[in-house]
Amino acid sequence: MKVTVVGAGAVGATTADNIARKQIVDEVVLLDIKQGVAEGKAMDLMQTASLEGFDTKIIGSTNDYTKTAKSDVVVITSGLPRKPGMTREELIGINAGIVRDVVTKILTHSPKAILLIVSNPMDTMTYLAYQVAQSMGVNKKRIIGMGGSLDSSRFRYYLSQATGFAQSDIHGQVIGGHGDTTMIPLTRLATVNSIPVSRFLSKDVLDKVAADTMVGGATLTGLLGTSAWYAPGIASCAVVEAIIRDEKKVIPSSVYLNGEYGQKDICLGVPVVIGRNGWEKIVNIRLNQEEQAAFAKSADAVRNMNNVLAT
Ligand code: NAI
Repeated sequence: MKVTVVGAGAVGATTADNIARKQIVDEVVLLDIKQGVAEGKAMDLMQTASLEGFDTKIIGSTNDYTKTAKSDVVVITSGLPRKPGMTREELIGINAGIVRDVVTKILTHSPKAILLIVSNPMDTMTYLAYQVAQSMGVNKKRIIGMGGSLDSSRFRYYLSQATGFAQSDIHGQVIGGHGDTTMIPLTRLATVNSIPVSRFLSKDVLDKVAADTMVGGATLTGLLGTSAWYAPGIASCAVVEAIIRDEKKVIPSSVYLNGEYGQKDICLGVPVVIGRNGWEKIVNIRLNQEEQAAFAKSADAVRNMNNVLAT
């Protein structure tokens, strides 16, 4: 099995590192447009193999797509990250050009690949990838946007901080758009070992957990001066692993909706079953009125951004 990661920056290299260490594929190709960067990072990562004890081959490539040929999964992280004070949405112009070009080249060399879109603004970049893929005859189920995997892990972190319980005992999902104002942490459904978290936290504290989750990425950008990479890298790897191992895991991801959750012709975060064929089905959670309204509002915001693509 072979995975390509496009963009050998902070998130791309961390994703490649995690995939290699887990030994879930034989080969990881790291591709970047900047001369030598992907080769350098691939060599650096390969020099951790004897220490870490993995045999996955990592190959670097400066924009040579022939090296990516016949990949099973391709993770697209190429594009600019956020700077402090910037929203994910402000990246749209530059990243749209990059994502359109990369998706076309990738699908030309790996027509059967499943694509995992990470570049921001992620839901719009996933929609763009979907449009390019459709024009090349690729099934919508092979286009997945990574956001819910990361946002849900941030949600679980904040829930753990507030309750004092271990993160591994906490379950919670974030759906909707992958944006500071568009994501929806489902506090009503979050649990600690199957017990609703509302048994442990007051409404005010739960509202604060949700608010902290929504600006979780911006908080890190403020501290780091650029966007985060450890959690995004492992969150991307988790989706790749679910595909490669055909895990049938439910992971909230941005996928093309055709009426599900009341939305059409948009890519937005919903719980999906991930397996060898990409996203295999959408899991329908019964949302209450407030959550439904938040989902519709989130869709409106993402749709406005998608409209920028057409101009
Ligand atoms: P980075 O700047 O460290 O890396 C981006 C890399 O993409 C650079 O090495 C650059 O040379 C490369 N690149 C640019 N144009 C390219 C092209 N046409 N072909 C190949 N490579 C190209 O940025 P970082 O921190 O790795 O973030 C990458 C993207 O992921 C950003 O858009 C960021 O906002 C997004 N992101 C998304 C997350 C999510 O949850 N979906 C989480 C974190 C970041």
